[in-house]
Amino acid sequence: MIRALIAAMLLMATTARADTVLITGASQGHGLAFAEDYAARGWTVIATARTPAKAPELQALAKKYPKLTIEALDVTNFKQVDALAAKYKGTAIDVLNLNGAINSFRVGVEAFGPLDPARLNEILSTNVTAQLHMAEAFLESVGASKQKKIVAMSAVGGSITNVKNPTAPAYRASKAALNMIMRAYGEQVKARGVAVLVIAPGTVDIHDYLNEKDPAKIPERYKRNMAAGGLAPRTAIGNMIDLIDQLGVADIGSFHQWDGKILPW
Ligand SMILES: NC(=O)c1ccc[n+]([C@@H]2O[C@H](COP(=O)([O-])OP(=O)(O)OC[C@H]3O[C@@H](n4cnc5c(N)ncnc54)[C@H](OP(=O)(O)O)[C@@H]3O)[C@@H](O)[C@H]2O)c1
Repeated sequence: MIRALIAAMLLMATTARADTVLITGASQGHGLAFAEDYAARGWTVIATARTPAKAPELQALAKKYPKLTIEALDVTNFKQVDALAAKYKGTAIDVLNLNGAINSFRVGVEAFGPLDPARLNEILSTNVTAQLHMAEAFLESVGASKQKKIVAMSAVGGSITNVKNPTAPAYRASKAALNMIMRAYGEQVKARGVAVLVIAPGTVDIHDYLNEKDPAKIPERYKRNMAAGGLAPRTAIGNMIDLIDQLGVADIGSFHQWDGKILPW
């Protein structure tokens, strides 16, 4: 009886959460998984996608979770970013999850010899400039919330200390620059109680390749990742939500991995 009462109270505490998260790049991959897990925890979710009509899995989530709203957003389109920020002015956003970015490992890895300058600029403007613009545009809404967190999704590849090979230099540079600009922006806004956090999500097993019986269905890069023990389980998304819940202004100087491990900058 007491157990049932505690379980009911816990369920009420979870489903009655008034927290709000805005997630960029929620059409697929980690962003879609974040949207699903936050919604399942009872959060109000503003899930953005560049082309919502081309995001059927996100549309399905919006049907399942009434507190999940889809907004069209290309983070490099500053007019669109500013218009969305104006639309949500007065709405408290607890967590601004800056997830949407060019993940070179998925869309064609750039390389030295020679590195295409236009591609480098495209990656930097999406993964760095647009991320800072998002943070600045939504600062008021984040500052008006209870949790007050801006989370930049970085990558282990952005750690200067950890570089062991020359692959994906533009992507690495973009994440290293993202780390620096968000680290500095944290100093800028911490007096307002806003925590700017930098997290490396690892490669999360969104497609459940770890349980795939047919090796032919597993892309080569995931096979390499798995062989090196580098594929984070699907539960890593929930781990990151728990981590973000726990981190605050005191953690702005740290670069966290999905499992809470501190990475070298
Ligand atoms: N998966 C990994 O191995 C890994 C490892 C470390 C870090 N990360 C980081 O985690 C985040 C998510 O990665 P992921 O693996 O889920 O990537 P993904 O599957 O390639 O998805 C990227 C998402 O970002 C969106 N996006 C790209 N350009 C955008 C723009 N200009 N405006 C708005 N959205 C844009 C994409 O939207 P469209 O669907 O419209 O293209 C898509 O929803 C990224 O920041 C990535 O760098 C990933």
